[in-house]
Amino acid sequence: MRALVYHGPGQKSWEEVPDPAILKPTDAIVKVETTTICGTDLHILKGDVPAVIDGRILGHEGVGTITEVGSAVTDLAVGDRVIISCISSCGKCIYCKQGVYSHCQAAEGAPGIGWIFGHLIDGTQAEYVRVPFAETSLYRVPEGVRDELAVLISDILPTGHEIGVQYGAVRPGDVVAVIGAGPVGLAAITTAGLYGPSRVIAVDLDANRVEMAKSFGATDGVVASDSDWREQIIAMTDGLGVDVSIEAVGVPATWDMALAVVRPAGHVANVGVHGKPVEFPLDKAWIENLTITTGLVNTDSSPMLIKLLAQGKLDVGGFISHRFKLDEIIEAYDVFGRAAETKALKVVMAV
Ligand SMILES: NC(=O)c1ccc[n+]([C@@H]2O[C@H](COP(=O)([O-])OP(=O)(O)OC[C@H]3O[C@@H](n4cnc5c(N)ncnc54)[C@H](O)[C@@H]3O)[C@@H](O)[C@H]2O)c1
Ligand SMILES: [Zn+2]
Ligand SMILES: [Zn+2]
Repeated sequence: MRALVYHGPGQKSWEEVPDPAILKPTDAIVKVETTTICGTDLHILKGDVPAVIDGRILGHEGVGTITEVGSAVTDLAVGDRVIISCISSCGKCIYCKQGVYSHCQAAEGAPGIGWIFGHLIDGTQAEYVRVPFAETSLYRVPEGVRDELAVLISDILPTGHEIGVQYGAVRPGDVVAVIGAGPVGLAAITTAGLYGPSRVIAVDLDANRVEMAKSFGATDGVVASDSDWREQIIAMTDGLGVDVSIEAVGVPATWDMALAVVRPAGHVANVGVHGKPVEFPLDKAWIENLTITTGLVNTDSSPMLIKLLAQGKLDVGGFISHRFKLDEIIEAYDVFGRAAETKALKVVMAV
């Protein structure tokens, strides 16, 4: 088969590789029909995620059809159309039983990290992928849900919802700032709407993304390169700061921004994948009663999000800005990597 293979920082190629095979009775093989690129893939290519080795097939998002199942897989069958969750979970370990799938103790590669596709095992930017713990890591696509919407359940919708909105504890009436209006930030903006905030402020360096965010539920936008970006945000509150600030970029500057706009007793939810340490001003934070959360997506809210998607209650069709054939993936990376110029949000590759 053909796949997108990582060859060290800055290096990748679409090349011929061996087809995946069932290795364990709980595995399934999925023919990937739709996949996409995540901001995390860009971090990997920058060298921010050193656990990814030369030769690894990238990608942790996908939708496809099961072509083979291991002998222990009884609830899924060849021909089922499925969403591949970016988190693999055994369903049996102590963390999986708590719904903290991100720390599945049975995960391959490095027990204790549920995100393994395109990281510790081969991923979904390929014609076929082996899915460990298939029954607890794949979701059937409901009738009538298009692949390119279903693929948003692999990662960005649960990530924005769980690590941004749920960990940030967004409540009715809250003013929420989302720093970073890339696909993950937009997913946080859209799913924040499920909890009735009074205002959702999209903040990004890219004025186009700030504008786009308004069609996905942001009530306001601030361009982060404005010298008075902080004053603009504070003026949208009662003067004390936002109730919840969600960091969805993953660089020290945006971590600082998220802390700079939150009110005393507010919540800061970090979603971004950081490649460097940040300044943690505990000397100022303690007396402000701040709640600061971090996390790797669990995907425990995916079944709920799939239900909303199937009912047309999550208006996320506009997240997809560009469509490519699977074998045009190198071009798709180029477009996604230059989002400010190309106005890319989610780029989708399909067979
Ligand atoms: N925690 C998790 O489980 C998890 C899961 C998936 C993705 N992520 C992370 O979420 C982050 C966002 O992912 P994405 O796919 O939306 O990425 P993306 O690169 O498409 O979006 C990032 C956005 O941040 C903006 N930005 C950059 N610097 C900025 C600054 N100084 N001020 C304001 N905005 C700035 C960019 O213009 C861009 O719009 C990434 O770090 C990704 O790795 C985390
Ligand atoms: Zn991702
Ligand atoms: Zn587990």
